[in-house]
Formats: sequence, C-alpha cells, structure tokens
Amino acid sequence: MYKIVKKEVLNPSVVLMDIEAPYVARKAEPGQFIIFRIDDAGERIPLTIADFDREKGTVTIIFQIVGKTTRVLSEMNEGDFLLDFVGPLGVASHLEGYKKVAVIGGGLGTAIAYPQAKKLHALGAEVHSITGFRNKDLIILEKEMQAVSDKLIVATDDGSNGNKGFVTNVLKQLIEEGNKYDLVIAIGPLVMMRAVSNMTREYGIKTLVSMNPVMIDGTGMCGGCRLTVGGKTKFACVDGPDFDGHEVDFDEAMRRQGMYKKHESESTELHACRLGGVTNA
Ligand SMILES: Cc1cc2nc3c(=O)[nH]c(=O)nc-3n(C[C@H](O)[C@H](O)[C@H](O)COP(=O)(O)OP(=O)(O)OC[C@H]3O[C@@H](n4cnc5c(N)ncnc54)[C@H](O)[C@@H]3O)c2cc1C
Ligand code: FES
Repeated sequence: MYKIVKKEVLNPSVVLMDIEAPYVARKAEPGQFIIFRIDDAGERIPLTIADFDREKGTVTIIFQIVGKTTRVLSEMNEGDFLLDFVGPLGVASHLEGYKKVAVIGGGLGTAIAYPQAKKLHALGAEVHSITGFRNKDLIILEKEMQAVSDKLIVATDDGSNGNKGFVTNVLKQLIEEGNKYDLVIAIGPLVMMRAVSNMTREYGIKTLVSMNPVMIDGTGMCGGCRLTVGGKTKFACVDGPDFDGHEVDFDEAMRRQGMYKKHESESTELHACRLGGVTNA
C-alpha cells in the first residue's frame, strides 16, 4: 500500500500529491511515469513522475481531474493509501549535452515539463521556459518553473495575467530575437505539440514531445498506446513517452485519442449516479 503523505490543490482542477513509494523514488528519472490503482476494482491510471525525493522516499504526482478515477483520487486525503503504484515506467529523457533549451508546457503539460526543466538546469544548460494556460486562474508551478529557468514567460490565451498569446507565438518571438536553441521540449495538448513541432521543423531545431495515449498494461504487451513515429509503430509506454516531434504522426494520435470517449463519459456518469445513490449497475 502506498501512503498519500501530502496533498495540495494547485487550481480548481489540478491536485499535487506526494506518495510514499521509496523503491520508485530510488530509481525515478525525469520523463518516466507510474501506473496506480486506487483499489482492486479500480482502473490502471498512468501519471508522470513530476518530482521525487530519494531521501524521503516520495514521488510527486500532479493530476488534472478529467474523469472518474482522477475525481476519486482528488477526493482522497493525506494518510489515505493507494493499492498499487508501479514504476518507474518508460524511457527516461535523454537531456545530457544540450547548451540552450526551450521548455514549453501547455496547461497540465507544465507538470510533465517541470522535471525536464529541472534536470536540464541541474546539468548546466541555459533553460528558457514558456508556459501557457487558458486564463490566470489555471496557472500552476510558476514559482517552481522560475527556480529552474534562466527565463520564464507565462502566457494566457485571454491575456488575464497581462501576457496574452499562445506558447507558439512566444517561442517564435524568442527564436527571432536571436536565441539559438539546440533543443525544444514541448509538452501539452496534441494540437499544441503539433503546432510547436511544425514551427521548429522550419527552423531545423530538434524537438521532443511527450506522448500520452491511453495506456492499459504499460509494459508493451497490449498495444493500446500504439503510435506511428517516423513511419514505424512505436509503443509510448516502452519506447517513450518522449519522441521526436518531427516524426510523430499527430493526426493518427488525435484519431486514436477519441476512440474511448464514449466509454469514459459513461463511466464518469455512472460514478456520479452512484454518489447520488442511484445504483444503475
Ligand atoms: C504516460 C502518461 C503520463 C500521464 N501523465 C499525466 C499527468 O502527469 N497528469 C495528468 O493529469 N494526466 C496524465 N496523464 C493522463 C491520465 O492518465 C488521464 O488523465 C487519466 O487516465 C484519466 O482517467 P479518468 O478515469 O480520471 O478519466 P477518464 O474519463 O477515464 O478519461 C479522461 C481522458 O483521460 C485519458 N485517459 C483515460 N484513461 C487513460 C489511460 N489508461 N491512459 C492514458 N490516458 C487515459 C483520455 O484522454 C480520456 O479522454 C498521463 C497519461 C499517460 C499515458
Ligand atoms: S500500454 Fe500496453 S503496449 Fe503500451
């Protein structure tokens, strides 16, 4: 059993938790993820390792409440336990050897981008971070990103933080001001990662994206997380989640992302009915 030792609500739909999981913390690296189950009837849910503390034996997860399981998790508290917390899974990001990197986080993608920015900073790279949110109330991890970045620009779609624009516009401006990046990392919604990758292709800047398709076993056996990268089939759980953004077939990834929508909304509705006392099943 894995104890929730810290819970912090970052915004109305995003929660941070530190989980006591010493074996995972001991091996965790930026770019990797865990799969947890709340109880033996629960779904297996992948979440990125947002941070870890090897001494305390804790792993930080940051999650958005989007459906049934993330809702139930958000209702749990410090001192409660998760049944399973398996990891670290996936390939750790290769971040060594870069001099100047732009790290882009779109919305919740900022939580996944943070450990990468932190590692790059620790390796001595110059880190320019760009984070984007729909409005100022959704901004997360500003202080944390600031601490690991030489430059941080936070943009909002509606301009409510005083800096209106999309992350792509900010990146373009920085490049055109003469910043020479040897790597761009873009993590967020598929449309954002596709837009960044299309732009950096024109400038010839290597670009890494983090692909989060639906995962089931997380070990390369079920094929659920299949992607096409550079014309070849890859499994995000064992070959990724990081991939070369210029090689990913984003159109296919978007089509596959919509496949389970009906089932997921039925599951969320059923959970709401049960909470309301309607058994339904
Ligand atoms: C490698 C990886 C890392 C991730 N890291 C984070 C993270 O750090 N923070 C975060 O908030 N979210 C992360 N996600 C997405 C997270 O797994 C889903 O939000 C979660 O599974 C939703 O479950 P639900 O029951 O609450 O919602 P549901 O109603 O079941 O689903 C809502 C949406 O979540 C996605 N989803 C559902 N089931 C899965 C699944 N088994 N695998 C992947 N996606 C699924 C789908 O896009 C779906 O439309 C990650 C996904 C992957 C694959
Ligand atoms: S989750 Fe099953 S192959 Fe990746």
